[in-house]
Parts: sequence; structure tokens; C-alpha cells
Amino acid sequence: MSTYKEIALVKRPDDGKIGPHLFETREKTIPSAKDGEIVIKQTHMSLDPAMLGWMSDDRESYIPPVELGDVMRSSGVGEVVESKNGDFAVGDKVMGMTGWSEYVVSNGRGFNKLRAGISEEMALCVFALPGLTATTGLYNFGKPKQGETLIVTGAAGSVGSIVGQLAKADGLRVIGVVGSDDKAEWIVNELGFDGAINYKTDDLKEKLKSLTPDRIDVFFENTGGPIQHHIVNRMNEHGRIVVCGMIADYQAEKPSPGPNWIPLIKKRITIQGFAMPDHWNEIPQLLEKLTPYVQQGKIKYRAHIIEGLDHACEGLNMLFEGKNTGKMILKL
Ligand SMILES: NC(=O)c1ccc[n+]([C@@H]2O[C@H](COP(=O)([O-])OP(=O)(O)OC[C@H]3O[C@@H](n4cnc5c(N)ncnc54)[C@H](OP(=O)(O)O)[C@@H]3O)[C@@H](O)[C@H]2O)c1
Repeated sequence: MSTYKEIALVKRPDDGKIGPHLFETREKTIPSAKDGEIVIKQTHMSLDPAMLGWMSDDRESYIPPVELGDVMRSSGVGEVVESKNGDFAVGDKVMGMTGWSEYVVSNGRGFNKLRAGISEEMALCVFALPGLTATTGLYNFGKPKQGETLIVTGAAGSVGSIVGQLAKADGLRVIGVVGSDDKAEWIVNELGFDGAINYKTDDLKEKLKSLTPDRIDVFFENTGGPIQHHIVNRMNEHGRIVVCGMIADYQAEKPSPGPNWIPLIKKRITIQGFAMPDHWNEIPQLLEKLTPYVQQGKIKYRAHIIEGLDHACEGLNMLFEGKNTGKMILKL
């Protein structure tokens, strides 16, 4: 094959809907490396809820939007197929910001080699954004203590499932909020959570009360949605709320009203939002924290794989429809 495909963003999702009308697929000639460069053939591309934000013309967010006409932003893993850079050899598997493209030319900056024994899926499911986000949010801001109760929304997702397993390994009582009975069964029976709430079918207030007899000390928020109000009202004194994501609101026309703040005063609760780009310089320490849990077999993960760059849009929508069972990865 002498040509490859890349997908550029050409329109903004003003109504919050993601579809092929936002993108243009371009056929290009496979490039050669110049001095100092590598050519990477992408094999596994990450699809993340944040991509919707990156497509929007929001200049006040933690990262600038993708400019119209530019290749859509994403991270991914690929194999070096040509190298004129002494730091990389042909055959090296590398991870970095690849974009929605089958091939990438780079000077190597921002690309890291996968360590021996780490598969592409494991890299993207655990050691990339999901694990780093879970570790940052939980330890920098959640400050979990043995014997406390933690609740995590989006609990069967790539970030939420790791948050819950880390907290379980640290001796907390862990409850997960999910959108299906299958996901509830997976987090309880496979991952060892102490309980699950199906936010679509359960009586939220009653189920929350029965599963949190000692109330809640740490609330790791990945989704938003009506259960947020109930959780805030069930927090303990000096509880910590870590705001990682609000996927229920990303496509909403109007942001949903937040919970009442009086409990924050009465219970002296801390709320902290965070975004990973502020923490890239902490990656070595974050990996040092996360890796022993993985080595001890305490972190299980599952990847939801779909194939072909043409299905990137479809895959991204699955995250907003709850159709993904595990970290959403596009195999090329
Ligand atoms: N702050 C940061 O730096 C950072 C970094 C990474 C991710 N995040 C955020 O963390 C959250 C999780 O990301 P992820 O990559 O791990 O995705 P994920 O949880 O693997 O996938 C998204 C999940 O969100 C749930 N969901 C979708 N619509 C929902 C709704 N209306 N109400 C409640 N749940 C809904 C679905 O699960 P159900 O089937 O259970 O509904 C879906 O599977 C996202 O909000 C993301 O933006 C933040």
C-alpha cells in the first residue's frame, strides 16, 4: 500500500452531535522519514469522551480545540516502520499523540516506547490516560483512607473501573454506579466492588442508602446525572468530591443544575475538579504508584475493540450511548 487515510475535523459539533458530517477523510501518500524523524504505522487508537470537547470551539478549556482542517486529535500506539532518529529502531512500539491517521511522521518528541511485556491494549487501557487519570484523581484529590467508603460513577468505564479497584486494594468499601445490569455484575463479580447501582433502573436514594451504611467519604465523579444530588447529600463530614468528568452533560443543550451547596458547609466537604494535562510532569511518580497494583494482579481491565479508521465516529458515539464495555480502542 502506498497511500494511507487520515481524518480531519472540518466542522464543529455545535449541536453536540458527532457524525461523519464533521469530518473529511483524506487519502495521502505514505511519507518517508527525513533526518531525525520516524514514521509510525498506528495500530491501536484511543477513543475518549474528551474528544467531543476538543472538537468544540471552546478556547477557555484546559487544552485548545482542534483547528478546522487539522487531523483529529487522539493518542494511540503504533510501530516504527522507518527511522532516521537514533533513539528509535524499526519495530519499536511507541505510544503518543497520533491523531486519526493510519501513519504519523514525528521527530520522536512525545512518543514513548512500550516497555517489554506490555501489550498495546494494556498500554492504552491501564498505563495511558485511564490509569493516570484514576491515580491522579484518587490519590492527589480523593485522599482515600482504609475503612472509608468510596463511590465512583461510570464505574465500568476505563477510568472508573481502575479507581474502584485501586480503592478496593487500599481497603475501602467501594460502590460503583453503572448503566446496565451486565456492567453491575462485572464490577461486583469480576472486579470485587462491594456493590453496584444501576442509575437507569434502581431507586437511587434507597439503593444508595442500603449500600452505604457508613455514608460516603470519597465521591469520584465521572458522569454527572441525577444521582449526583443523592450522593452529595449522603457525604460524610470532611468528605472529598473529585470531579473528573461529566459525560451526562457533554451533549446537553443546557448544563444541568448542580446540587445544593448547604451540605458542603455543614459537612466541610472539599470539591476538586482536575484535568490531566496539568499532571503530565507527574507521570513518572504516577506510574510508580500504579505499577505495583498492576504487578500484584489487582487491576483487571477490558478493551472494547472496533476495527478500521472509518469507524472512529461510530466508536466515539458508543461512549456517549454507554455501548462500550471497557476502554474504547480502534484497531487499525
Ligand atoms: N479530568 C480528566 O483529565 C479526564 C481524563 C480522562 C477521562 N475523563 C472523564 O472521565 C469520564 C470517563 O471517561 P472514560 O474514558 O473512562 O470513559 P468510559 O467510562 O469508558 O465510557 C463512558 C461511559 O460513560 C457512561 N455514560 C455515558 N452517558 C452517560 C450518562 N448520560 N449518564 C451516566 N453515565 C453515562 C457510559 O457508561 P454506562 O453504561 O455505565 O452509562 C459509558 O460507557 C468521562 O466523563 C471523561 O470525560 C476526564
